[in-house]
Amino acid sequence: MTTSNTKSTDGPFKVAIHSFKGGTGKSTIAANLAVSLALEGRNVGVMDLDLAGPGLHVLLELKQEDMKLTLNDFFLDKCSAVEPVIDLTRRLGLKKGKLVFVPASFRADDIVRVLSKGYEIQNFRIAIQEISRLHNLDCMIIDTHPGIDKSTLVAMGVCDMIVLISRIDSQDILGTGVMIEIANTLKKPGLLLANMIPPGVDREKVKQRLETLFNSPVTEVIPFYTEVLRALSTEVFILKNPDHDFARRLKNVVEVLQTSARAT
Ligand SMILES: Nc1ncnc2c1ncn2[C@@H]1O[C@H](COP(=O)(O)OP(=O)(O)OP(=O)(O)O)[C@@H](O)[C@H]1O
Ligand SMILES: [Mg+2]
Repeated sequence: MTTSNTKSTDGPFKVAIHSFKGGTGKSTIAANLAVSLALEGRNVGVMDLDLAGPGLHVLLELKQEDMKLTLNDFFLDKCSAVEPVIDLTRRLGLKKGKLVFVPASFRADDIVRVLSKGYEIQNFRIAIQEISRLHNLDCMIIDTHPGIDKSTLVAMGVCDMIVLISRIDSQDILGTGVMIEIANTLKKPGLLLANMIPPGVDREKVKQRLETLFNSPVTEVIPFYTEVLRALSTEVFILKNPDHDFARRLKNVVEVLQTSARAT
């Protein structure tokens, strides 16, 4: 993947979190990266663009009644882009920075409607611009649906950087190769993370193998942590466990993202 910076538009630094296969840890990493960036004093947005299988709101401890409007309503012309936004800064007890969330609906009819009607890339751009202007955002993190579908291509087209997450399962690795090809074709800078490395696997060897295979640096090789899985997606793990190794590794990723953002 290219590491050059090709910022697409003015506004916040836009990061799409993606993987070819499902269940690689995208939403977990999106929520925790967003909090980690906010704790660095940044104004951060995190958006659930997994319209077919939304889940970020669960990690952010929100319920249906907290989300009166969603991104689906915006795409269906029922509200403005800024109306669905929920400011979580105080709710999550963040002492620094700001964190706002753009939810997707998990009501079956909303999901079906938005998937069948679709939405335009231009509307997606407008949503990010308006939300960022109102909340003075430095960064927008976009959680995506796995694989290649329209929302993936829209997110990739609009973002300044793609964070690709892969497990080391052979199916994931094959798919990650496909995603890297797409990122390169779109000339999008990418950052590769290996996640859920099973206990007993030599992570340094994994890093070398993936870097050789993809001809691209691997920013972090994140172990499988029983504690993260045991949290059952009910919380932003690093908030309650700031000294955990997972928090330390995500901080390294944040460093790389901030360096890339500064260079644009
Ligand atoms: N490093 C890790 N160690 C242990 N468990 C992890 C790790 N990363 C993520 N998980 C767990 O894996 C599960 C799937 O994570 P998550 O929902 O974030 O994946 P996803 O890629 O967003 O899935 P989907 O493609 O369905 O949207 C969750 O239970 C999460 O807690
Ligand atoms: Mg997800």
